[in-house]
Amino acid sequence: MALADELCALQAETLAGIEAAADTAALDQVRISVLGKSGSLTAYLRNMGQVPKEQRAEVGKTLNEVRQAIEQALEARKNTLATAELEAAIDAAAVDVTLPGRSQQMGTRHLINRITDEISEVFLGLGYSVATGPEVETDYYNFEALNAPADHPSRSMQDTFYVHDLSGDASTVRGESDVLLRTQTSGVQVHAMEDQEPPIYVIAPGKVYRRDVADPSHLPQFTQIEGLVVDKGITFGDLKGTLDFFCKQMFGPDRKTRFRAHYFPFTEPSAEVDVSCGICHGEGCRFCKGTGWLEILGCGMVDSNVLRYSGIDPEVYSGFAFGVGVERVACLKYNVPDLRMLLEGDMRFLRQF
Ligand code: DAH
Repeated sequence: MALADELCALQAETLAGIEAAADTAALDQVRISVLGKSGSLTAYLRNMGQVPKEQRAEVGKTLNEVRQAIEQALEARKNTLATAELEAAIDAAAVDVTLPGRSQQMGTRHLINRITDEISEVFLGLGYSVATGPEVETDYYNFEALNAPADHPSRSMQDTFYVHDLSGDASTVRGESDVLLRTQTSGVQVHAMEDQEPPIYVIAPGKVYRRDVADPSHLPQFTQIEGLVVDKGITFGDLKGTLDFFCKQMFGPDRKTRFRAHYFPFTEPSAEVDVSCGICHGEGCRFCKGTGWLEILGCGMVDSNVLRYSGIDPEVYSGFAFGVGVERVACLKYNVPDLRMLLEGDMRFLRQF
């Protein structure tokens, strides 16, 4: 019978197509072309009405067998392809555990923190302890208790940022707020003397702020380390010996120190300390501007007014104080020509230390 042959051929052709389908999308195409709405087998099923009555049962049976055979083959192929595709996806996503790992880049401590610790270590080794004070400070601690009352000319050297009290009832200086960002760590001296009985041997590292424009030798925010000693019988000799020791520890035993008379409101007498230039060893070069010396800190004997302000009797006790700029020491130690380089965050620069 011609119809039976046709169906036989359709089945064979479809099974071959199913076997040849390379992926589930191609298999779906075969299914639609045979069993879909306008599929080839669907057409035969639809035309059953035209088959003569006496042949209908026979043809219907054959059609059903063909459809079942095709559906089974589709199902079997679909499972095979799905398994293969899943395996391929797993293979593609697999991690090759034999490849070398990606190394994590290690950071380094910032030079400012390292020098802060290095300076602190020298004084901790001498038996000092660390004191702290607030960065947002009052005019009293930053200036007044340090012997610089409201009209004192030394204040013009250290203009700063004022924090306004929104409650409006703060006592004011020059008609402004008396709350400010500290310009120096020297205020911690006052806190330390209020909080502790002598003998006092403290250092106070911390951030300070000034209304300065950044340039090679100025930063609007920088780091200082304050030192304060108050004890019986402290002399300028103790101050010189201590700071000379500090400079040799920091810069090397062959470096010399020089004490130049200076003025600070909170010390009397006061001095600035220079260390001999590490590049020309005192001959004079560009780095030390031809002088052979590099200025590194301010110091002096604590003014008796400052002791009195904090309730310490200057007839019984005396002391010395000093203030070091950390960024400055860092740049002098490593011959960095511009303080701003420390803050630019350029890893090529920072990794060198
Ligand atoms: N506070 C001073 C400044 O910022 C530095 C200083 C000088 C601190 C002399 C001291 C000192 O304790 O005795 O310029």
